[in-house]
Amino acid sequence: MSSTIQSLRGMKDIVGNDSKLFIYFIENASRIAQKYGFSYIETPLLEETALFKRSVGESSDIVNKEMYQFIDKGQNDVCLRPEGTAGVVRYFVEKKLDRAGGVYKWYYYGAMFRYERPQKGRLREFHQFGCEVFGISSVYEDANIIMLIKEILDFFGIGFTLKLNSLGCPNCMPQYKENLVKNISSFKEKLCEDCNKRLITNPIRVLDCKVEACQKLLINSPKITNSLCISCNSDFTKLKEILDFNNISYEVDSNLVRGLDYYNKTAFEFVSNEIGSQSAIAGGGRYDRLVEFLGGKNSPGIGFAIGIERLLELVVMKESKEDFVYIGVLDESSLNKAFELSIKKRKTTKTHFEYNPRGFAKHFGIAEKLGCNIVALLGENELKNKTIFVKNIDTKEEKNINIEDFLNEK
Ligand code: HAM
Repeated sequence: MSSTIQSLRGMKDIVGNDSKLFIYFIENASRIAQKYGFSYIETPLLEETALFKRSVGESSDIVNKEMYQFIDKGQNDVCLRPEGTAGVVRYFVEKKLDRAGGVYKWYYYGAMFRYERPQKGRLREFHQFGCEVFGISSVYEDANIIMLIKEILDFFGIGFTLKLNSLGCPNCMPQYKENLVKNISSFKEKLCEDCNKRLITNPIRVLDCKVEACQKLLINSPKITNSLCISCNSDFTKLKEILDFNNISYEVDSNLVRGLDYYNKTAFEFVSNEIGSQSAIAGGGRYDRLVEFLGGKNSPGIGFAIGIERLLELVVMKESKEDFVYIGVLDESSLNKAFELSIKKRKTTKTHFEYNPRGFAKHFGIAEKLGCNIVALLGENELKNKTIFVKNIDTKEEKNINIEDFLNEK
């Protein structure tokens, strides 16, 4: 016998209760996003590698270490998308919507791929639900996006902490970076190897280093929130006011820099303390220069993505009371009639049809394994009397009822 094949490390089948939860989440998150004016977009899983280099950024871990990148049969340098924003921006620019002007709002969900070290809450293939908005620079939209995520998390009864920061703009960020590098230069040898690399590629990434010793050394480093220009400062203050006014709690975390290079101004993360070290369940922010990075005309953008696997660890599905009817036959001669009945019953009720004639006990056993709560069986006697045997698995009640009544029963 040849050896069996297993799924790849960090990749999971979504099936059974997980797939029920998955659909439940997608349906409700989509409904909420639509309420905020978003429509669905699906972009390809495979894109040109350059798309992510120019957006997520060459200094990011995602592009540097984690891409599923290869040369395809046509000699194109391609990779499986590590995130959803870049593809949506590519579409926006490709269709010249940046030149058309106006507001565009899309939501998406699907698989993302990052070649990370798998652990609890960190997969190599995972799923995101995300939203992207183009054409609105008002900070009110930043608040709207935060409210949308909160509404989704509230719907599923998930507790969270909202961490908020402003990453400034091309007027204030370069000066801040310079000050930061200058400040760190006196103790940079004591920082970890990754921090030293980041000091050269993108110094602010040093701030969210997970190594405790580095964090201790950086405690007195300059804070971006103290270095914002007038416009960024006023936007950040206004955003905090709107959130306060709408009773949305947040913590300002000036070390929150995000792992993708395209952000400016508002950056945020929703974290949960119930799912272990990979605690970010959603993240996002403004990316007003990303359209330009991808060759388009300057257009503001903002968005977020929720990590579906992380979120589903926290979701308890509301109890569904929906009936699941099992229809089976006691003998071969009842098969045609029972099949016809199952077609009719399926119009109103979730139905499983069992083709093999069996005795009562066998049918009950199969029905229970399938999760059916009603078992309806047809045999010669029932056919003669135009009735059907019905058992409620939960209450154990058994009865023979008229076929028409069975079909009308909800
Ligand atoms: P991100 O923070 O890289 O942002 O990912 C968003 C969420 O995806 C994370 O908060 C986390 O829940 C989940 N996630 C990330 N990596 C993994 C993994 N390896 N395994 C399981 N879950 C994971 C983005 O991707 C941006 N595109 C978000 C965005 C949209 N910003 C603006 N628009």
